[in-house]
This record gives sequence, C-alpha cells and structure tokens, in this order.
Amino acid sequence: MTDMIRRAAEDIAAAEYVVALTGAGISVESGIPPFRGKGGIWDRVDPMTFGHIDTFEESPEKVWRVLIRDLKTIIEQAEPNDGHRGLARLEAMGRLSTIITQNVDGLHQAAGNTDVIEFHGNCARQRCMDCGNRLANSAVDISALPPRCGCGGVLRPDWVFFGEAIPEDALRRSGQMAARCDMMLVVGTSAIVQPAAHMPIIAKENGATVIEINPERTPLTGHFSDYLIRGRAGAVMNGILAALEPLMAERSR
Ligand code: OAD
Repeated sequence: MTDMIRRAAEDIAAAEYVVALTGAGISVESGIPPFRGKGGIWDRVDPMTFGHIDTFEESPEKVWRVLIRDLKTIIEQAEPNDGHRGLARLEAMGRLSTIITQNVDGLHQAAGNTDVIEFHGNCARQRCMDCGNRLANSAVDISALPPRCGCGGVLRPDWVFFGEAIPEDALRRSGQMAARCDMMLVVGTSAIVQPAAHMPIIAKENGATVIEINPERTPLTGHFSDYLIRGRAGAVMNGILAALEPLMAERSR
C-alpha cells in the first residue's frame, strides 16, 4: 500500500485539475452507515420501497419512521473524519478543485471544502412538498411524523429519492468537471448507482488518471480506474498527505 500511496501523491502533485467523487464509504469512519455491504442501510431497509419517492408520497409517515428519522439523527451528530479533512487539506493546498459527492451528510463542507456538488441532495435541510420552502433540520420538529411546514405541507429531506431526477445543475456541473479534470479521486463508493458512477468513466474517456480509494474492488477497478488503493479513506488520505506535503514544499522552492 505504501508504494501506491507514494504513487498517488506523485500523481496528485503533477496533476493540473483534480476532482473527487465520493460516496458513503468516506463517512463510515464518522459513524454513518454505508448503503451496501455489512451493516448497510439497504440490508435493513428495502431501497426500492423505502428509498423510493412513490412510497414517500403514499406513506410519508412510514418512510420518516423507518428510514429518515434515524439517519437524520445520526447525520446531525456526525463530525468530519480524516478522509473528509484530507480532501479539505488538498483543496487548501491548491490540489483539489471540486468534490462531487453522493453523500447527503454535508461533511465535506463541514471539513472546509468550498466547491461541493451535492449529487443526491442533502439531509441537513428539509423541503416542503407543497410550497417548496427549505428548512434547516434545527427548525424541524419531528415529535410528530411526518413533520410539517408552517403552510401545513409535508416535509421531506432535500435529497434525491429513487424515482427522482438528479438536480439539473448538479448533473451538468459534474459532467463538466469530470470531462475537465486530469485526475479523479474516487473515494468510498461502490460505483454502481447511475448516473454518479458514470463520472469516473467520463473522466477516463477524457484522458484523466482515475484513482480509487476503497477497501474493496468496484466495477471500475481494472476497467476504468488506473489503480485502487485498498484501505479506509481516513488512513489512506493521511498517508497521501504525508507523502504529498514534502513533494509540494520541494516544488515551491
Ligand atoms: P455504498 O454503500 O453503495 O458503497 C460504499 C462503498 O464504500 C463500498 O464500496 C465500500 O467498500 C466502501 N467503504 C466502506 N468503508 C469505507 C472506508 N472506511 N473508507 C473508504 N471506503 C469505504 O455507497 P455509495 O456508493 O455512496 O443513493 O452509494 C451510492 C448511492 O446508493 C447513494 O448515494 C444512495 C444509495 O442508494 C440514493 O439514495 C439516491
């Protein structure tokens, strides 16, 4: 792994325009469960039922009770970990431009990244199904479910349910960033949910180097990614930064 980390640091130092695509795995070390795999949310809850907009529209109380309430509570208590902080440090060093995240936890912004494309929305805000008003979680009373807006409408997380389109601006900008970058870091995603999983493919097709950071292989591995650094996001990012900082210092001399 040490050789791979050194190689990644050298590649990042040499890159012109670095973009990251992140998924649930980067927030696992912050105590937020992933969707797939052992202990994953979709192990416990059927995604095509409880993750689908049709179910929410039919039974918002049920979806709030089974899925949203606990997730919202976990996310509210979560803090960025070394994976998030590492990406924020890369931006501060001028080595990372944009993060495309599938996560709805807001932890990249909390860590300090300033250009974060929320591909699947954000759970820190709730949106009224009737008037479209957006409320911060702190302003939402969940003592009775589903919570309601001042206008009486049902509140829903400002995230993308299955059966809904990706926000137009997020999709457009992500495609542009993927095509523009010459390096994409793909951190903690199973890379199976489309269209997010297509972003590394766009990057690769446009000549970028694609590096995966994940304890497991994904459908990108060996096909669209140049190499996989097998490990947890926090430890790998710490390793990359430890190797990158002296390289950058040398360059600025
Ligand atoms: P998944 O739960 O599908 O995948 C999490 C990935 O993180 C897996 O590949 C794990 O091997 C990896 N992983 C686990 N722990 C890790 C760690 N400590 N460091 C790095 N990687 C780790 O999550 P996503 O790929 O984000 O969409 O899922 C994509 C979308 O599917 C989600 O945004 C959500 C879900 O259904 C919607 O809800 C619309």
